[in-house]
Amino acid sequence: MKKITKLSTLLFLVVTCVCSIPSADAQVSSLPHLSKEGAATQLIVDGRPFLILGGELHNSSSSSLEYMQVIWPRLAAMHVNVALTPVSWELIEPQEGKFDFALVDGLIQQARRNDLHIVFLWFGSWKNGVSTYVPAWVKTDYARFPRARDEAGRPLEILSTFSAASRDADAHAFAALMRHIREVDGQNHTVLMMQVENEVGVLGESRDRSPVANEAFAKPVPPELMQYLQKHKDTLIPEFRKVWEDAGGKTSGTWEQVFGPGKPKGLAVPVRTLSPPMTPEEHETGWRSLHWPADEIFMAWQYSRYINQVTQAGKAEYNIPMYVNAWLQQRDHAWPGTYPSGGPLPQVMDVWHAGAPALDMLSPDLYVQEFDELCARYMRSSNALFIPESAGDARGAANVFAAFGQYAAVGYSPFGIENPSTAAPDGPMAKAYEFLSQLSPLILAHQQKGTIAGVALDKDHPAKKIQIGDYTLNVSFARSWGTTPAPDYAAAIIMATSDGEYLIAGKGVSVSFSCDRPECLATGLASVEEGAFVGGLWVPGRRLNGDEIMSGSGLRLPGENYTVQKVKLYQYR
Ligand code: DGJ
Repeated sequence: MKKITKLSTLLFLVVTCVCSIPSADAQVSSLPHLSKEGAATQLIVDGRPFLILGGELHNSSSSSLEYMQVIWPRLAAMHVNVALTPVSWELIEPQEGKFDFALVDGLIQQARRNDLHIVFLWFGSWKNGVSTYVPAWVKTDYARFPRARDEAGRPLEILSTFSAASRDADAHAFAALMRHIREVDGQNHTVLMMQVENEVGVLGESRDRSPVANEAFAKPVPPELMQYLQKHKDTLIPEFRKVWEDAGGKTSGTWEQVFGPGKPKGLAVPVRTLSPPMTPEEHETGWRSLHWPADEIFMAWQYSRYINQVTQAGKAEYNIPMYVNAWLQQRDHAWPGTYPSGGPLPQVMDVWHAGAPALDMLSPDLYVQEFDELCARYMRSSNALFIPESAGDARGAANVFAAFGQYAAVGYSPFGIENPSTAAPDGPMAKAYEFLSQLSPLILAHQQKGTIAGVALDKDHPAKKIQIGDYTLNVSFARSWGTTPAPDYAAAIIMATSDGEYLIAGKGVSVSFSCDRPECLATGLASVEEGAFVGGLWVPGRRLNGDEIMSGSGLRLPGENYTVQKVKLYQYR
């Protein structure tokens, strides 16, 4: 009997002891991480979903703590909650193996003092294609750290992806950085995510043409990539799958046999792809297809493999979300080499997923006019949308509503956030962020439920139809009253709160409602209330009717300030 009691006491102690040691899983899940929460993938920080109202600093700002001193309060005042902050290889490892993290520590402390978070941008082997941020001991030792070459054999100022020495040196430095961040920030979580490198890819050539690269290009496509493509055949990105199928859908062969021809010999990559010599039609549409596909796909594989190792080395030290960003193919930059060839572009997302499974997201630097189209392309293959660079003017302030509402973005971040015009406290971005920061909990909850939509309107897209809940919403520019000039942009986030009830938050839009199902009757507005969310609670303001609801035909959100309206619909015959 005594024995049994002793045994049970022992068991109790063991169980209690085991239970009180946080499991590896619990430790990992307490770090910032991405998680599929209902209908959306969200960033979870300290157990709660977090919406990044970001801003990316100019490239050189964070190299000086003194320079940054005045910038942090400016960001906080404009309701930015995360600063995308460069940290460069040359500054943390000025001598091989000798690390200096004083700047990193200072940036983290400054951010904390201003109640801001950081996403660090690792300017390692590449920044905008080129390798200007590598330390001088890497730059000058070109025998050990070889450059990519053009067709004439000239070196480009781009570290070749074919160098294990470069990859390992980068991975070593990145791992040291992540170890340090874990040591100084593992409990506080000021640092939320890492961008690995910046806008990688070969510029000025369609691919690396160094001898070792040419040799690899003439060899068969690696079986790992071929197997991935066969396994995911039915869900491949359509434009990528088309290239493969047009080349015969082969399951083995050299890069050109499997994916079609690379750039013809002797043809120089132009700086820009202009019309003429492109026809206006080619110029307008050619930026949406792969050109010289074997070259771009080959480079995408190379960059993804290299960066996967850098990412893995960092995550082994401190496992927070990591992503790569892309300089996009676009009008005037349609062929690989006029944009960085091999970067994480939408047409080669499958190659990146196959080559770099350690990465959490592939992210567009989204400056082009086709905002919705690119968001949608980056949401394919279960990729969560994060926009690390974008416009910070009135257009950006409208697009952020589409990003969070329509595309359940994890975050949005204008580039050059500290610019006096972007950071102006009464500027469009500050106003939009002030409004969105009040709505963040609601936006995050509706992203999870999939009951949210968002629109940004401009002169080219003056009206959009949104299907949400049981109704179709027609969102268009609101007619302005009196002498107020019509704005160039308007935006709204729409949340379906229950049957026939919506919260519409934004500026400068009119919204009318229709129910298109055969059983529907005519739709009317039962009630419309203006209000605000204070501390997460709805505080009603005016009851809207008459002119303010266009005599019952729809809502009108004024163009001067952001407002929220709550509408209840009804049906009649
Ligand atoms: C994109 C780059 O990623 C940024 O670092 C910066 O150079 C901007 N372009 C400048 O427009």
